[in-house]
Formats: sequence, structure tokens, C-alpha cells
Amino acid sequence: MRIILLGPPGCGKGTQAKMIVDKFGIPQISTGEILRGAVKDATPMGLEAKKFMDGGLLVPDEVVVGIVKERIQKKDCQNGFILDGFPRTLPQADALKKVLSSLGLPLDYVISLEVDQKALIERLSGRRTCRDCGRGFHVAFDPPRCAGKCDVCGGELYQRDDDRESTIEERLNVYGRQTAPLIDYYRKEGLLVTLDGMEDIPSVWGNIQQVLAGCMG
Ligand code: AP5
Ligand code: MG
Ligand code: ZN
Repeated sequence: MRIILLGPPGCGKGTQAKMIVDKFGIPQISTGEILRGAVKDATPMGLEAKKFMDGGLLVPDEVVVGIVKERIQKKDCQNGFILDGFPRTLPQADALKKVLSSLGLPLDYVISLEVDQKALIERLSGRRTCRDCGRGFHVAFDPPRCAGKCDVCGGELYQRDDDRESTIEERLNVYGRQTAPLIDYYRKEGLLVTLDGMEDIPSVWGNIQQVLAGCMG
């Protein structure tokens, strides 16, 4: 099962990807998480990427395409993977298409989660993320059992640097300009499934499982 989760910042890609990982045992490939890991480790790539991320801008295509190319060829991707936050530009989508076709690995679905702007801002500004396992929470919509602590691993919850109000606005603009065109791109490829991301987390998850049931059989 090879799928892409597509949608604006805060639509629930990461939240739903983690549930797919738990249920189906295929890895989540989040370019955002990989980049945040590189920032934390202060690698040359991380230091370079941080400048873009803090401004709410996209990291250059060559960098993320390189990351994904390498990642999808690892052994744990043999039975599939979930791409979360990649591709985000038309050149990234073309590069992915090329590499997957050279590996003989077609995509099953591109699931697009639709959420309106006001809800996205609420979700991003109340998000808390685990420093250790990357699991996301929300102070109101998905609160941790114990304030400030991850339910899964006990790690410390923090607010992402790019979840500040001014950066959120820029990220949403960037999404509209550079990533939203991928909806049409994948519609034309016949891979697009659109889901209502405004529903609560368990309902969206229920709908995703129905879609995935189609690619299991
Ligand atoms: P990335 O980490 O991918 O961020 P993003 O796309 O902006 O998406 P988010 O992670 O903010 O949102 P999400 O959809 O995962 O929502 P979540 O599930 O957490 O990228 C960060 C940066 O890295 C980019 O800005 C860019 O600089 C760089 N980058 C990454 N990939 C790149 C690429 N391919 N090319 C170039 N640059 C790249 O949910 C959000 C909140 O809402 C949570 O608090 C959650 O609990 C809550 N929530 C979730 N679902 C619901 C629901 N149904 N109802 C109520 N609350 C909900
Ligand atoms: Mg995410
Ligand atoms: Zn954790």
C-alpha cells in the first residue's frame, strides 16, 4: 500500500498517518519530521532547511526529493509507505513519479483532506508535538492524558517553531500557491480521493480506513 496524504498545514496528515502506521505497520515518511530531526541534530542540511522552515517557506525541491528517494528504497518500505507532506510542488510530484516508475512501485491513492482556513488556524495554534516520537496533540481537540506529556512515550510536548501566528499565515499562502495545484495533478492521474477533514479525528480515520480497504483487497 503506497499512499500520499495531501492537504494544507494542520489538516491532519500527521495525526492520520500515525494511525495508519499503527494499524498497517507501514512507515510514515514525513519530510517535515525528517527535516525537524536534521534541525535538532544541527546537520548542515538541517541548518540550511531551518531558514526556510522558520519563514514558513518550502525547502528547495532537490533537498526533499533527495531525502524521499533515499528513504523509499529502505527495507521497511517494501510493503508500502505513507508520504506525509511530500510532494508539495509540481516538480516534486514529477520527480516522485519518475522514481516510483523506475522502481516499479505504483501509488495506490492520494488522499486529500479538506479543511477550511479558520479551522486550520485553530488546529495549528493549539497543536503540541512530542519531542521524542513526533506524535501530535491538540490542547482542545486531542488533549494528552497528562498535560505537557506524550501519551505514547511520555516525552515532553512542545509547540513547533513554525506554529506561530505570522508563520502559520505564510504557510497557508505557500500551500495555496505551490501545493494546492497537486490536487488537480492527482485528479488527472486518477488517484485522488477527497475526504472531509472537518470531521473529528475518529470519523476521518474511519473514512480513511474505508478507502484503504479498497487497496487491501
Ligand atoms: P510539515 O511538518 O509537513 O508541516 P505541514 O505540512 O505544514 O503540516 P502540519 O504538520 O503542520 O499539519 P498536519 O496536516 O500534519 O496536521 P496534524 O495532524 O499535525 O512541514 C513543515 C515544514 O517543513 C514546511 O513548512 C517546509 O518548510 C518543510 N517541508 C516539509 N516537507 C516539505 C516538502 N515536501 N517540500 C519542501 N519543504 C518541505 O494536525 C494539526 C493539529 O490539529 C494537531 O494539533 C491535531 O491534534 C489537530 N487535529 C488533527 N485532525 C483533527 C481533526 N479532525 N479535528 C480537530 N483537530 C484535529
Ligand atoms: Mg504534520
Ligand atoms: Zn511521544
